[in-house]
Amino acid sequence: MAASMQLINLNPFRLHSTTSIPKHPFTIRCSATSSTAKTYNITLLPGDGIGPEVISVAKNVLNLAASLEGIEFKFKEMPMGGAALDLTGVPLPDETLETAKQSDAVLLGAIGGYKWDKNEKHLKPETGLLQLRAGLKVFANLRPASVLPQLVDASTLKKEVAEGVDLMVVRELTGGIYFGKPRGFGTNENGEEIGYNTEVYAAYEIDRIARIAFETARKRNGKLCSVDKANVLEASMFWRKRVIAIAEEYPDVELTHMYVDNAAMQLFDTIVTNNIFGDILSDEASMITGSIGMLPSASLGESGPGLFEPIHGSAPDIAGQDKANPLATILSAAMLLKYGLGEVKAAERIELAVLNTLDRGFRTGDIYSDGNKLVGCKEMGEEVLKSVDTKTPASRLAREYMNEHLQFIKYRLLAL
Ligand SMILES: NC(=O)c1ccc[n+]([C@@H]2O[C@H](COP(=O)([O-])OP(=O)(O)OC[C@H]3O[C@@H](n4cnc5c(N)ncnc54)[C@H](O)[C@@H]3O)[C@@H](O)[C@H]2O)c1
Repeated sequence: MAASMQLINLNPFRLHSTTSIPKHPFTIRCSATSSTAKTYNITLLPGDGIGPEVISVAKNVLNLAASLEGIEFKFKEMPMGGAALDLTGVPLPDETLETAKQSDAVLLGAIGGYKWDKNEKHLKPETGLLQLRAGLKVFANLRPASVLPQLVDASTLKKEVAEGVDLMVVRELTGGIYFGKPRGFGTNENGEEIGYNTEVYAAYEIDRIARIAFETARKRNGKLCSVDKANVLEASMFWRKRVIAIAEEYPDVELTHMYVDNAAMQLFDTIVTNNIFGDILSDEASMITGSIGMLPSASLGESGPGLFEPIHGSAPDIAGQDKANPLATILSAAMLLKYGLGEVKAAERIELAVLNTLDRGFRTGDIYSDGNKLVGCKEMGEEVLKSVDTKTPASRLAREYMNEHLQFIKYRLLAL
């Protein structure tokens, strides 16, 4: 039986609880969850570079946390990206998309690498990722970025600026310039070669992502910033017009607008933006948090399985060296449990285990600072597993985060 789930603040750590129930709740349908059905089909897409390394670690953590809550997973691993190109000649084989569509949730590592960089566009790993997102119809990409207290020293910002940073970028994922037509190569009136793309949004595409963003902002600080380039681009002028129209449904949320060039300098709170600006801004946000290796993401549609993936790429520079930080993928697995399957307890086991592992001083190279223990991808995974398994008490900081979660669960039960 499918159960509906409110879209709540998806940041895995920072939750601003509220007791008010939305007037216009936007509901995300979970593909399969009920109190008795405890077996889920998960499609794993390890992909390329560090993808297989982080997926193998995250799979173990997911399995253990779920089994401790009486949940069983049937995993199906499918080729995707460069790995699929080598195996089948296309970056997203039909069987991979079909398996993903039939499953309850999809966990992706990363795709891409030098080997395929010179391929024609339709034979690039990245094309497969766009096809996957479009095929699963996951139009809302939620990218939380918060500075964990344990990692405040790893941020590129001064401690006093980084402390407490808690962002949410709500990125439109299946429209805009990445998909717009016409696109291609040609010749201009002077006979010169040109390349061109089209930034295009229909009203329904903006309306649905705006509603998700307003709902998200409502659960956070009640503030939403819509980022566009409405001083230059017609598509952005239209974006702004629709966001303002949808704002009437959310009088309790304070809406502001900002041009993307300005937003790049002052990221804050909840942001809603188009595909390309969201891509750039969320990568920028990751630097504030210390490392791109820490940030999970969830991509959701109105029905069907969600797609959960770290925001980082395949990191070919460190692939195969056991240097990757697996925490972004592990946290993506937690988002899969919570927002894909509605298995909140198992998700929290993972979140708590990650916090506990950081409390115990374990760090991969990207988040290492003096006085901590430098570990590789596998060892980091083993330490997280120990924390999931032994339920080692978490530090005061971790417990504070979890208390916020408990408030959130109460809210969610009220809202359902
Ligand atoms: N969603 C995806 O699968 C995705 C996203 C972005 C880039 N890519 C692809 O990945 C390839 C490399 O792209 P890039 O170098 O621009 O971005 P990247 O995210 O792969 O790497 C950027 C930098 O961050 C480091 N890094 C990334 N993830 C890390 C982790 N988990 N732990 C430690 N360090 C980590 C890398 O070593 C590198 O120095 C390209 O082919 C690109 O197209 C894929």
